[in-house]
Amino acid sequence: MNYRYAIENKNYEDYSSGRVFYSQKGTTSFPVRLASEIYQLCKSILIDQGVNRPYVLYDPCCGGAYLLASIGFLHGEDIFKIYASDVDETIIPLAQRNLHLLTQEGIDERIREIQKMIGDFSKLSHSDALKSALNLKSTLEIKDKSIEIRCFVSDVTKNRNLNDCIDGANIIITDLPYGDIVNWNCMQNEKEAVKNLLDNLLQIASKESVIAIISKSKTKIKHKDYKQVERFVIGKRQITILQPDINL
Ligand SMILES: C[S@@+](CC[C@H](N)C(=O)[O-])C[C@H]1O[C@@H](n2cnc3c(N)ncnc32)[C@H](O)[C@@H]1O
Repeated sequence: MNYRYAIENKNYEDYSSGRVFYSQKGTTSFPVRLASEIYQLCKSILIDQGVNRPYVLYDPCCGGAYLLASIGFLHGEDIFKIYASDVDETIIPLAQRNLHLLTQEGIDERIREIQKMIGDFSKLSHSDALKSALNLKSTLEIKDKSIEIRCFVSDVTKNRNLNDCIDGANIIITDLPYGDIVNWNCMQNEKEAVKNLLDNLLQIASKESVIAIISKSKTKIKHKDYKQVERFVIGKRQITILQPDINL
């Protein structure tokens, strides 16, 4: 695939799971360059429609918020608020910890934690983590205001009151369960789950909102109330960019 936005293939080791970002068993990470490409593509669609930053970003299947935290560090100057939700209540504290790293307070706490580990264990991996944490902290210093963060538990295939939790979102990016490490945590088949997810997102999307769905390449991402703006496949992943196509 030709990258159009994240053109430079940078070294993203500062974003490695478990280094500065927290991880836990059963969670997944996401290719950082691809996350940046998808975010910038969504942003370019908004700009073409005359919708300028700051943006509200939402991931309704956020897991440990690795994807959101990466975007927050790389493009935080554009982002005003991040909403993150997942059906798994045991994962939301991890999402909260990772997204808290986007604040001065959160990254300073993490730096102190890593410094303590260096003192206790003198491991090279901890010294590398400290360098990465300082690099990530420097990306926050160019911002005048922290991103507002809200994490909550929600089954996005069932939540008919999503608009009680979220005022609205300009960009919705979500990496659907693939069925290997993580599954749809509901009694529905994939087709039904995708339909219900897209039905429910209409509560918080506007006509200009851009929705990026990352799925297995064979999953059909189609819904009568959305138009497909773009679709591309990279490796085993398919990225489908949608916008609502009804009067909201
Ligand atoms: C591929 S993972 C997402 C990983 C995430 N992008 C990250 O960066 O950490 C898919 C997530 O979907 C969640 N999930 C499964 N069924 C769900 C549902 N019905 N509603 C909301 N989230 C769901 C799983 O708990 C899992 O965390």
